[in-house]
Amino acid sequence: MKVSEEALLEVDNLRTQFDTPDGLLTAVDGVSFSLSKGKSLGVVGESGSGKSVMSRSVMRLLPKADVRTEGTVRFKSRNLMDLAPQDLRKLWGPEMAMIFQDPLGSLNPVMKVGKQVAEGLRLHSGLSKKEARFEALKLLREVGISEPERRLDEYPHQFSGGMRQRIVIAIALACQPDLLIADEPTTALDVTVQAQILDLIEEQRNRRNMSLILVTHDLGVVAGRTDEIMVMYAGRIVERAPTKVLFSNMKMPYTEALLESIPKLERASHSHLLSIPGQPPNMVDAPRGCKFAARCKYVQDRCVAEEPDLVAASTPGHFYRCFFPVGSAESADALARNVANGKVDESGSRVHIRT
Ligand SMILES: Nc1ncnc2c1ncn2[C@@H]1O[C@H](COP(=O)(O)OP(=O)(O)OP(=O)(O)O)[C@@H](O)[C@H]1O
Ligand SMILES: [Mg+2]
Repeated sequence: MKVSEEALLEVDNLRTQFDTPDGLLTAVDGVSFSLSKGKSLGVVGESGSGKSVMSRSVMRLLPKADVRTEGTVRFKSRNLMDLAPQDLRKLWGPEMAMIFQDPLGSLNPVMKVGKQVAEGLRLHSGLSKKEARFEALKLLREVGISEPERRLDEYPHQFSGGMRQRIVIAIALACQPDLLIADEPTTALDVTVQAQILDLIEEQRNRRNMSLILVTHDLGVVAGRTDEIMVMYAGRIVERAPTKVLFSNMKMPYTEALLESIPKLERASHSHLLSIPGQPPNMVDAPRGCKFAARCKYVQDRCVAEEPDLVAASTPGHFYRCFFPVGSAESADALARNVANGKVDESGSRVHIRT
């Protein structure tokens, strides 16, 4: 994949594996991408597709034991893979920060919120206690917490879920990082609060010219919010494109299936039932061919026998991993064949594939 010169982050052939009782589990497999300063990238995929492991691998936040990480993660021209723990710790906060998937779990339940926001500032910026408290107050106000003077002295359990998430964002932004990775920052929140939090992250990104990786299982969350989208499946990138291109001209059947699984307003009453039929593959012993083949309505023998490479589409910056891309004559023929021989039902949505 082409790497631009002003890239803040360049990830090349990242592979992360866990030693498990069942064998070596490959959670991230050959992921490469780059992100320029001030740009945003949405990372989308179902549960288990490797989004969080990829994010933590990029931040070098995975514990060493039982984990094997390969590849390069170049951040501001330094390969983070070569850095010692004490050097990485200097980066976390002022250069790169992460909002974790579980906001409550990342707050200390027995420490006042103000102190938690101020802590990073004291550590990295050398501010006095009083100065750090003043900055924490400003940050809480910025992320939309009312009466911040009073609330600085409260504990996390005294805040609602949405307010706690704002505190986590304030902590992540405290040292003005150049890169923010937000891992499902809104999953536990209701739709209105979700939009407010995403707007807040967006506003802060624009104001600080920060680069953002926004991780979510919901394509709807990143639509219109990020410059580019990367779709992950079974630890791999299966499609990457500028956001508008992805929505107008998606090539990967998995992306199409994800889009179809977004709840639509007109069928909201049973929207929770929507999901892609079938299960993702076992990552200890993944099938040989395309990892989505067993669930794909366009599947052909070739897809089971051979894994497609990530190839460039005609639009710049658009890559996908499929032999029968969505919208092509080949995929239309493939679907028709599958319906005719009973692999896929008439609607083209239910897949019963024998491989
Ligand atoms: N510490 C670990 N030890 C072993 N396997 C792990 C570990 N952490 C994650 N995995 C496995 O790695 C794969 C990717 O997990 P990951 O948490 O990155 O998925 P995700 O895309 O973030 O999913 P979700 O949407 O549920 O957060 C999964 O198969 C998961 O079971
Ligand atoms: Mg996750």
